Amino acid sequence: LPRDLYLPRLNSQGFEFGDRVALDALLSEIAAQTAPLTAAPLIDGVARRGTARPVLSPIDSTSVVGEVLEATPEQVNQAVVAARRGFVTWSRTPADARAAALERAATLLEQHRATIIALLQREAGKTLDDCLSEVREAVDFCRYYAAEGRRLFSHGETMPGPTGESNVLSLRGRGVFAAISPWNFPLAIFLGQVSAALMAGNAVVAKPAEQTPLIAALAVKLLHQAGVPKTALQLLPGDGAIGAALAAHADIDGVVFTGSLEVARSINRALAAKDGAIVPLIAETGGINAMIVDATALPEQVADDVAASAFRSAGQRCSALRLLFVQNDVADRMIKIVAGAARELKVGDPRDPATHIGPVIDREAAARLDAHIVRMTLDARVHFAGRAPGPGYVAPQLFELARADQLTEEVFGPILHVVRYAADQLDAVLEAIAHSGFGLTLGIHSRVDATIDHAIKRLAIGNVYVNRNMIGAVVGVQPFGGSGLSGTGPKAGGPHYLPRFALEQTVSINT
Ligand code: SER
Repeated sequence: LPRDLYLPRLNSQGFEFGDRVALDALLSEIAAQTAPLTAAPLIDGVARRGTARPVLSPIDSTSVVGEVLEATPEQVNQAVVAARRGFVTWSRTPADARAAALERAATLLEQHRATIIALLQREAGKTLDDCLSEVREAVDFCRYYAAEGRRLFSHGETMPGPTGESNVLSLRGRGVFAAISPWNFPLAIFLGQVSAALMAGNAVVAKPAEQTPLIAALAVKLLHQAGVPKTALQLLPGDGAIGAALAAHADIDGVVFTGSLEVARSINRALAAKDGAIVPLIAETGGINAMIVDATALPEQVADDVAASAFRSAGQRCSALRLLFVQNDVADRMIKIVAGAARELKVGDPRDPATHIGPVIDREAAARLDAHIVRMTLDARVHFAGRAPGPGYVAPQLFELARADQLTEEVFGPILHVVRYAADQLDAVLEAIAHSGFGLTLGIHSRVDATIDHAIKRLAIGNVYVNRNMIGAVVGVQPFGGSGLSGTGPKAGGPHYLPRFALEQTVSINT
């Protein structure tokens, strides 16, 4: 059946910030959520003991959001063994029932929006706007994969064949999937991975980022409440060593990972070193994402789109703009208005709805970014140097580089690097972008179709955004994910995602 008979017609609704009454009601509901929280290893739904650690808020590192009991290496094994048992029943649960559980989870997420936002703000330092978008994305993932899952997993696909023979191709779960997720979308990416793996009929052992275990624990609680069996979804809060132990476990059948290239590579090596079946890895990493702005672009639109792409979410999105190529003729003017847009952004407490940029995730991240700023201050021309309101915060920065290859790694913060190019150097710009090896997002601002087509064809980049900002991919609308150093694919929130979590089986019957 055609896909549009199955898919929800609409993504979840946005929030109208102009509606003062609704905004005040939401803010007071969020402010009322103060309960301290705990995250513990959850094996078959039973909270286990673990190594206790306070979860500190990036807003102010003296404020404790809750407590995490981090999993032990023995619990990694226990969780995988439990999930193996869970797989037996969950994989036999009809696709329709699995989809219905995800849809109930989506509704629960909407009902608990204020609790989730309060936690996202305190644990991840996200602004209200980012929290609202993140809840929507999580809801959309659950509903989209449920709809796609019904389409793909309810019935096999009849293949052509000779008379007297039936050939049916069907999909089924692989077994136990390890889902290792990042702190920058602690709800949406966590749930995107988990809901896809579950929809495909796998049992899941989830290892959330060490900075954001509480939001993961809340998400798991809602999934269990929605009807995902406790044996089918196990939770292991912990640091990178727990993720590494999980990926190296002998009895897992797949890994889905979002995070740094370095960790993706180490998981890949651990999987390759194992005896037994070859275990697939679905990895999504980062990028040195570029935008090209030529002389035909509209300056005010460019300024808004650059500011959103480079600085929103404190630049802590894998899609964020890092390297802006501006054509010489317009460079001075563009740089000036981008600096002006950066100056307008308010950096501060994310609970204040007027704040555009909250803190970065932790003190280590702030120190790494500060060190980069110091280096850039020496090696680059400074066009804008925002001042952070306190420790743990990084304000927007705008540096001009003489050459693109001065930026050799992804800088995960609100720091933008500009490079000028001459009208006849477009191919050199495209070459420099290709040379980085990353391929996640690309922005193009131009009114010349030939330039746009040429760039798109030359670069194997997963998500290309033309004459708009380059962040905030919408589930089912802009399937998201890159190539090369940016990841293995398939694209999250797209029609090819679920099959990669599944096994294919062809049954040929001589009738
Ligand atoms: N999916 C997110 C975005 O598009 C990831 O960074 O911005």
